[in-house]
Formats: sequence, structure tokens, C-alpha cells
Amino acid sequence: MPLTIKVRKDGPYAVDLATGEFTLIDHDGNVIPLPELKPGKTTITLCRCGASTRKPFCDGTHSKIGFKGAEEAQREFDAPQPPGTPR
Ligand code: FES
Repeated sequence: MPLTIKVRKDGPYAVDLATGEFTLIDHDGNVIPLPELKPGKTTITLCRCGASTRKPFCDGTHSKIGFKGAEEAQREFDAPQPPGTPR
């Protein structure tokens, strides 16, 4: 089965470790240790908003800063606007 990475709505990338092998490396090729999973959990989350203090892992800050994933922001941008609305 291929490794599954889910893009959470307005949140992190969720990597389901139960679906395949996963190695996270830094820009120099060094392995970044994965956080310990809570009992019964198989998912780690990678920050997508850029605001986590635990990068590259999500620390939940995205919800405090009102992060919107690109797909949501693009939908809002593409939505019909009343005439005269500045972009
Ligand atoms: S996506 Fe969660 S802190 Fe950035």
C-alpha cells in the first residue's frame, strides 16, 4: 500500500505511518527523528502554515492564527465578488 499523506483542511499534512515507510530528512540529508506516537495513533503531522514552533511538525498554531490552506484561499479568491470589490 502506498504511503498516505492527507492535506487537512486549513491544517497540516497528516502522514499515516500505518500505510507505508516514511523517512523525514533535512536539507543536508540528515534523518529527522519522528515524534513519539500516542497510543493508538498512527499519524504524524507536518506544519503547512509555517508558524509551528516545532517545525517541521505541527504544534496546532495554525488554528490560532487562522491559517487557510491554499485550496481554500484560492476558492475564496475565485468566488464571484460584487461589482467594485477590490482584489
Ligand atoms: S500547520 Fe499546524 S502549526 Fe502549522
